[in-house]
Amino acid sequence: MTRTPTPADRFSFGLWTVGWQGVDVFGGAVRPPMDPVEAVHKLAEMGAAAVTFHDDDLVPDDATRDAVLERFRTALTETGMGVEMATTNLFGHAVFKDGAFTANDRDVRRYALAKAARNIDLAAELGATTYVFWGGREGAESGAAKDIAAALERYKEGMDTLCEYVREQGYDMRFAIEPKPNEPRGDILLPTIGHAIALINELEHPEMVGLNPEVGHEEMAGLNFAAGITQAMWHGKLFHVDLNGQHGPRYDQDLRFGAGNLRGAFWTVDALEQGGYDGYLHFDFKPPRTEDFDGVWESARGCMANYLALKEKAAAFRADPDVQQALLDSRVAELSQSTLAAGETLADVRAESFDIEAMAARGMAFERLDQLAMDHLLGVR
Ligand code: GCO
Ligand code: MN
Ligand code: MN
Repeated sequence: MTRTPTPADRFSFGLWTVGWQGVDVFGGAVRPPMDPVEAVHKLAEMGAAAVTFHDDDLVPDDATRDAVLERFRTALTETGMGVEMATTNLFGHAVFKDGAFTANDRDVRRYALAKAARNIDLAAELGATTYVFWGGREGAESGAAKDIAAALERYKEGMDTLCEYVREQGYDMRFAIEPKPNEPRGDILLPTIGHAIALINELEHPEMVGLNPEVGHEEMAGLNFAAGITQAMWHGKLFHVDLNGQHGPRYDQDLRFGAGNLRGAFWTVDALEQGGYDGYLHFDFKPPRTEDFDGVWESARGCMANYLALKEKAAAFRADPDVQQALLDSRVAELSQSTLAAGETLADVRAESFDIEAMAARGMAFERLDQLAMDHLLGVR
């Protein structure tokens, strides 16, 4: 295994990540704007396979649209980079202060649909097969301000309308909803993977819609990301992933992948590799405000390097004979056996006599198993 990223690793980056100027709630820009063409060249040089963008990252205004797209297409051709995903900025402009698809103001909802459809056209033209919906402004700060049931109806209406549009156009494109519990709204609709899966089940074309979970967003809610994406895969809904780092429940840190909860990152890589995820490994992070452009590229490089290092560690963990023995001792594979044997009924189970004291006395040996994972992660095995 190599730790030098290549396009075969399918790493991708949002233009808004390396291009983040550092504007936060307490201070303005610390870095000048980054030309998307430069981002494409630099990321290609570093071994990434693709970029992603919000409409406004790439085409901030109509006056320069054609010229910008021309230069961008040339950069993609020159570097062999792809556009694998795109999304809509439905949060930055003041018009979206109360949301987009779920704004109380009906005109805003109509504008949001038009804005998304326009960028879906561009995404399809550039070859993106995933279109992300992050509803950062879909929510509220106070109870009576938002009729949650009505908002969910409108969320559904928005997704259904755009699914229908993609079908009519014949685009090869699926949608991926990105959950987040809060920030920028006090409470955001579809706060977790589970909430989003439940909404998808209510849509007209649930097969077209999956998830784009982000590490930090689940961890902000104190949830286990590896477990969450594994459930998403079980439902066939892990269409895309946003990898980054987070130190537990606090503001959205968007650290580089591997920073923050390193053990969580190890299990995340293990879950993706074991679970057979074959989509892009997309980094959605913010190089800290302390960094100049060298630091920005160092941070991007770190995302990929950490993924590859953890992939190597996770593979070594799985291949280790002591781990295989520990898995047996922990009876992990036993969970894959059905609880009732073929032909058995609940009545057979009820007729069985259980030695519950003996069952209760059996240890699970999970500490040994977990320490082996720690030893691999710490590099002492
Ligand atoms: C966040 C989000 C955003 C979205 C992106 C796609 O950090 O809260 O990750 O970065 O992923 O804007 O719309
Ligand atoms: Mn985030
Ligand atoms: Mn994200």
